[in-house]
Amino acid sequence: MERLIIRGGTKLEGTIPVSGCKNAVLPIAVAAAILGDGVSVLHNVPNLTDVRTLRAVLEGLGATIKLKDSTLYIEPINHLEYEAPYDLVRKMRASIYVLGPLVAKLGKAKVSFPGGCAIGPRPIDLHIRGLEHLGAEVVVQEGYIYAQAEHLVGTEMYLTGQHGPSVGATANVMMAATLAQGTTVIRGAAREPHISDLARFLSAMGADIDGIGTSVLTIRGVKQLRGTEYTVISDDIEAGTFIVAGAITRGDVYVKGITPQQIPAISEKIVEAGVELDWDDNGVRVTTPREIRGIDVATAPFPGFPTDMQAQIMGMLCLASGTSIISENVHTDRFIHAAELNRMGADIMLDGGKAIINGVPGLSGAPVMASDLRAGAVLVAAGMAASGETVLSRVYHLDRGYEAIEKKLNNVGANITRVKD
Ligand code: UD1
Repeated sequence: MERLIIRGGTKLEGTIPVSGCKNAVLPIAVAAAILGDGVSVLHNVPNLTDVRTLRAVLEGLGATIKLKDSTLYIEPINHLEYEAPYDLVRKMRASIYVLGPLVAKLGKAKVSFPGGCAIGPRPIDLHIRGLEHLGAEVVVQEGYIYAQAEHLVGTEMYLTGQHGPSVGATANVMMAATLAQGTTVIRGAAREPHISDLARFLSAMGADIDGIGTSVLTIRGVKQLRGTEYTVISDDIEAGTFIVAGAITRGDVYVKGITPQQIPAISEKIVEAGVELDWDDNGVRVTTPREIRGIDVATAPFPGFPTDMQAQIMGMLCLASGTSIISENVHTDRFIHAAELNRMGADIMLDGGKAIINGVPGLSGAPVMASDLRAGAVLVAAGMAASGETVLSRVYHLDRGYEAIEKKLNNVGANITRVKD
C-alpha cells in the first residue's frame, strides 16, 4: 500500500497540463473493442488504474490492446466472449459498459452485477430498462446480469431516474442502439461532455447519431461500425481539481488544455467565490487576489455543478469567509471526505444531503484517508494548503483517476512524496 506525504504551506505557480478524460476513455474503449470491426487508435488516453482495469476486462472478452505513451491501440475482437466476470467487474463499476455493446454485437451478455461503493448504492435499473426497451430480455441471477436478444430493435424511451439522467445508462443504451434495427430516441439523456465525446467517437466509427450534446439523442441503427482514429477530450474534473488546487494554495497557475464550455458550472462557482479565471484559447489562468467567499453549491447533472467536483470545492470553501452550504443531489451519501477535512481543522456539519461549512482561517496537516477518488483529490489539495504534514493513505483511489498527480503538482511547487508502507 502506498501513501502520500504532503508538506503543506506551498503555493502553486506554473502550468499544469490536463490529461485525457477518464470517463470518456472508458466507454470509448469499450465501443472500439466490442462494436468496431476494425482497429481503433485512441489518442490522449490517461495512464490510470481504471484504464488498466478496463483493458483487463476487454482482453478477457478477447480484445488485443496496447497502450504506448498516451495512445491506445485496440484490435477488433474476432472470437468475442460474452462474459465479464465478478473478479474484474468488482474492481470498476464502469465495466457495466460492456453490457449493451455485447448484446448488440453477440445477442447475449453475462456481466457481473456491480456492487455499491463508498459514494452510495448506485443502482443500474436504468441500464436494464433501456436495454429492455430495445427488446433485450434481462434477468438478474446469482450476482450476474444475463441479457439476450436476437436483434435489438430501435424505439423511443425516457431514460431519467429519480436523481436525473444517468451517464452510464445513456452510454450503455446509446452504444447498443447504434447496431439496433431502426431508430432509437433516448429522451432524458445525460449531456455530460464525456457522453458527447462518446457519441462523436461512435459517429466517427460510422454510427448515425443526432442531438449530440442535448437531452434527446436520435440513433439510427447501422449494420456495422468500423475502427477509427480519435483524440479523446480533456478531463473536466481533473481541470476543476487543478483550479481548486491553485485557488486553495493562493497560487498562480495556468491549467492547460480545457475550455470554458467543458466546465461551465465549475467556472461560475469558482468565480462567485472570488477566484479570478482568465481564459484564453488553450486554458485558464487561476489567481486568488482576494479572500475566498463562502457560497452555496448544489450538484446536478450537466450543465449543473458536477458531483465529481463536490469534494474539491468543499475543500476550498473550508478556507472561505462565512458559511457555505453544499447540497449533494446526485450521490446523496457522498460526504465521507467531510469527516477527514474536519480532522484537518475544518468546520463541516452534515445534515441529510447537505453539508454546512463554516470557514476557518487555516487547516493543519493530519493523517487522513481517501475513501474514494475525488475524496483523495480534496485531501491532497487541503494538505497543500494546510500547515505541517498530511499523510494520505489509500492512495490507490487517487490513482484510479489522476495521472501522475504528485508529479504534476510538484512541477508547480507542491511538496508531495509517495512512500510504500
Ligand atoms: C458517472 C461517472 C461518475 C459520476 C456520475 C455522475 C463514469 C465512469 N462515472 O457514473 O464519476 O459521479 O456519472 O456524474 O462516467 N441511477 C439510477 N439508476 C441507474 C443509474 C443511475 O437511479 O440505473 C442514479 C444514480 O444512483 C445517481 C444518478 O442516477 O444518483 C446518476 O448516476 P449515473 O449518471 O448513472 O452515474 P454513473 O454513470 O454510475
